[in-house]
This record gives sequence, C-alpha cells and structure tokens, in this order.
Amino acid sequence: MPKLNENYLKLKQNYLFADIRHRIDSYCESHPEEGKRLIRLGIGDVTLPLPEAVIKGLHEGVDAQANAATFRGYGPEQGYDETRHAIAAYYKKHGIDVDFEAVFVSDGAKSDTGNITDIFGNGNVILCPDPVYPVYVDTNTMCGRDVVYMNGTVDNGFLPMPDKSIHADLIYICSPNNPTGACYTREQLKEWVDYALENEAVILFDSAYEAFISDPELPRSIYEIEGARRCAIEFCSLSKTAGFTGTRLGYTIVPTELVFKASDGTEMSLNAMWARRQSTKFNGVSYIVQKGAEVVFSDAGIAACKENLDYYKRNAKVIADTMRECGVTFFGGINSPYIWFECPCGMESWEFFDHMLNTIQVVGTPGAGFGENGKNFFRLTSFGSYEKTVEAMERFRDMLARMK
Ligand code: MLT
Repeated sequence: MPKLNENYLKLKQNYLFADIRHRIDSYCESHPEEGKRLIRLGIGDVTLPLPEAVIKGLHEGVDAQANAATFRGYGPEQGYDETRHAIAAYYKKHGIDVDFEAVFVSDGAKSDTGNITDIFGNGNVILCPDPVYPVYVDTNTMCGRDVVYMNGTVDNGFLPMPDKSIHADLIYICSPNNPTGACYTREQLKEWVDYALENEAVILFDSAYEAFISDPELPRSIYEIEGARRCAIEFCSLSKTAGFTGTRLGYTIVPTELVFKASDGTEMSLNAMWARRQSTKFNGVSYIVQKGAEVVFSDAGIAACKENLDYYKRNAKVIADTMRECGVTFFGGINSPYIWFECPCGMESWEFFDHMLNTIQVVGTPGAGFGENGKNFFRLTSFGSYEKTVEAMERFRDMLARMK
C-alpha cells in the first residue's frame, strides 16, 4: 500500500469554488424554477468574448499549425521568444524594466503561485494575509508547510503592513487584492520591499488584477518599487486582463538578481531553479494561445482589452453605488473587479450566501472561504453582464429593505 500525502487531510474537503459550484447545482436541482433566475457574481470568471484582434492572432496560430512549413511541436518551456519579448515590452510601456530572461510564460497565475512552492524548502517563515486567495495557503498545506497569518481588517483597510518584530522568509502579497479589492500604495509597497530586503526574504507578488488599476498613483507591479528586483517574484495573468480564463495564459517574472545561499554556501539562482522546475514538469503553453497573447500586448490588443475592462469597471461601479446607497461598508470596486462588503445584520458569510441564494437567487462568494477574517464579509464580482449586474443590485436593494 502506498504511503499517502497525509497533508491533504488538513485541507477542507473541496476547493472553495468547487464547493460553491456543488451548492449551486444542488439548489438548482431542488428549485428548478428559481434556478432559472440565478445570477452568478461568485467566481471571478469573465463573460465577454475575446476581442476580435486576439481571435485573429489565435487563428494565425491555428493556420501555422496546419502547414508543414510553419508547424511547431514542443515549444520552449519558458515560452516563445516573441511572447516573452512582448511581455517585457508591456512592462516597459508602464516604465518598468523587466529583463527578457526573467519572463516565464505559463498556463496561469493559479498554477504558478501554487507551483512556486517547489523551489523553496521546508522550515521557512511564510507570511500570508488573511483574508487571501486560497491557493497560497492550500498549496503550502499540501506540502506540509504552515503559514503565519497577517490580519487584514477594516482598521487597516485589508492591507496588512510588515510587523518588524517578526522575521519572514516568504511573503505573499496580492494587490489589487483578491478577495478584498484593496490596493497597496507605492509607499506601502516600499515598506514591504525594505522589510523583505532586511530579512533576506522573497515577496511572492500576485498582480493578476493590475489591469483594473485606474489610479495612476497606484503601483501595477512590485518592480515599480526600488529594490524589488532583489527580493520579489511577480505573477500575472491574462485571465482577467484579456478574458483568458478559458484560453489560459499567465506569466511569472523571476529576476536574475534573486540569488541566495544554500546551506552549504552554494549560490542558487531562483531564476535558474524555476527554469529547471518548469522544463522538468511543464511543456509550455500552446503555440496557438501564445499567438493570441502576443496580440494582447500589442497597441491594438491593449486598446481592445481596455474596452472589455471598462465594461467590467462599469459593473463594479453599479455594485459599489448600490452598496453606498444602502449604507453597506465596502472595499474595492474602483481599482479592482471585486467588491468586498460586510454581511448585513451581523450574519456570517455562509449564512448570507444561503440567504442571497434562497431569497434573490444571486450568487456571491462567502468571505469565510478566504480566511477567518472574512467570516462576516462577502465578495461580489463585476464580471457578469451589465444587465444582470443591474438586476442583481435591484434584487439586493429589495432584499436589504426586507431585512431591516
Ligand atoms: C476568484 O474568483 O477568486 C478567481 O477567479 C480565482 C482564480 O483566478 O483562480
């Protein structure tokens, strides 16, 4: 009999969004009529189709695969040079220097933020915000590692800052944050970078929602902060920026400056380790998808994606305006597709999830799924259609009026 990875026993039975899906399916089965009215503002999954220019890029990739002269088999595990250059150039457009060698193309930020655990050993002090995107904690739990939580609360605007009395080796930061929508300022990120450098720690910076930042004063990348190339890995994704949740493409930046000493004094480069890890366990993103992604980073692609982003931002405003009008305390919704708010009447978040589902057939995400500090909070996304978002907010207003 094999010995099993019993760390899995420490996990909740289901991944958060799988759990929600099961609950919705069972509600729709037992309430078929009400199920027809369902509006899904739960998982952050986009609904608009890919922009035409991107589709054209994908078609070019398909045509190339249909022709013996242009056909590609296995590609480079780190991504085709064109895609990697396009990503470095995208950073450059925002005034950020990212070296071509630092860019790794992948199938998404979820995979990379989970897989990065492979290049770190056991015994690190790992800081993780609470509430937080569940992948960071679950993947550490899977390899038997505990995390130290940093409390995100109303008082700190869900943006925990370094506690200088604690030493850390690894620090997870997500900004704009999933689930709270809160976004660190440059000064705040500078404090994190300084703290990481003092501790010789590595920041694992998830910037999957950077494209939602409209305030030019807010940093879209950790590399806008001086010193970050010596202490930070950045994960990003086209899922939300360009509607690639189903198409799949992400990228991770591992600067060549990230070199640390092994226990015997040998110098180890995180860039080289990640390249080794990826070339061993990953065969790269399909050529077709990379052709589509290249277009995303072109001027035409950026403009087309912006139209979709503006559509979702309009939805976010509808939700945020409703919260304001109803006197509900909320976060996010401006530089983020997420609106994070306090459950009414002191309800706990799973109770409120059931209440919304049963009374107005609107699905959201219970804050408890993101950590203990989320247990009285709830998350709605702006990725639905405009009409459905407006309708969901009308129902929400009526529901709150009935609860008073
Ligand atoms: C979410 O809803 O939190 C996201 O869609 C999850 C993800 O990006 O994997």
